[in-house]
Amino acid sequence: MDAVYKAILARRDIRVFLPDKLPDDVVERILRAGHHGPSVGYMQPWDFIVIDDKETLRALQAVVERERVRAGEAYPDAKRDYYLRLKVEGLVEAPLTICVTNDGTRGGPHVLGRNTIPETDLMSTACAIQNMWLAARAEGVGMGWVSIYEKADVREILGIPADVDPAALLTLGYTPHFPDIPLLERVGWGTRRDFAKVVYANRWGTQRRN
Ligand SMILES: Cc1cc2nc3c(=O)[nH]c(=O)nc-3n(C[C@H](O)[C@H](O)[C@H](O)COP(=O)(O)O)c2cc1C
Repeated sequence: MDAVYKAILARRDIRVFLPDKLPDDVVERILRAGHHGPSVGYMQPWDFIVIDDKETLRALQAVVERERVRAGEAYPDAKRDYYLRLKVEGLVEAPLTICVTNDGTRGGPHVLGRNTIPETDLMSTACAIQNMWLAARAEGVGMGWVSIYEKADVREILGIPADVDPAALLTLGYTPHFPDIPLLERVGWGTRRDFAKVVYANRWGTQRRN
């Protein structure tokens, strides 16, 4: 039990990677952790594209960089722009990137339990990704989630069919350091919300404990 909670608390979104190649068995275990995630109606909407080809990584980096610049324009603050840039560089620095895709058509039109909340497909894929994040942390491997891209760009570079969504680009590699607190907290971007204020009793807004 301690090991699970330890991995949950020590998991971090990692931006700084060492160039060392990840052993195949480690990558395999992280992928299998993803594939053992829960999914609505057991639809398993995910696939994993493991990318170590530098040319492909550079192509991905270029489209992410373009969106980073666009996003950075919303932040005149140079420091914030700098942190966004760090993550983009992770795409070529990290020895491996995994694109996790989400196929909302898998399992046919009537997936058990997906009638009223269609986005449960993407929720399932997110569960797979979290499994990978925790497994990576337990393996001592850093993982970063990159979502600053146009889906069409990533589809084209990786040859993903039109009805399949690239849900995430995950950069993976060894890191010199797992920070204790999220980077965005350390640089004053935000803080973890007060636990007592996010837990309600019986009804929205009724604080559970005083
Ligand atoms: C759905 C999702 C998308 C994210 N996209 C990005 C991203 O594009 N760039 C980035 O730097 N971090 C991204 N992150 C990482 C978050 O910034 C990070 O999880 C958050 O700041 C908390 O830090 P921690 O993961 O170290 O606890 C993403 C996280 C999630 C869950």
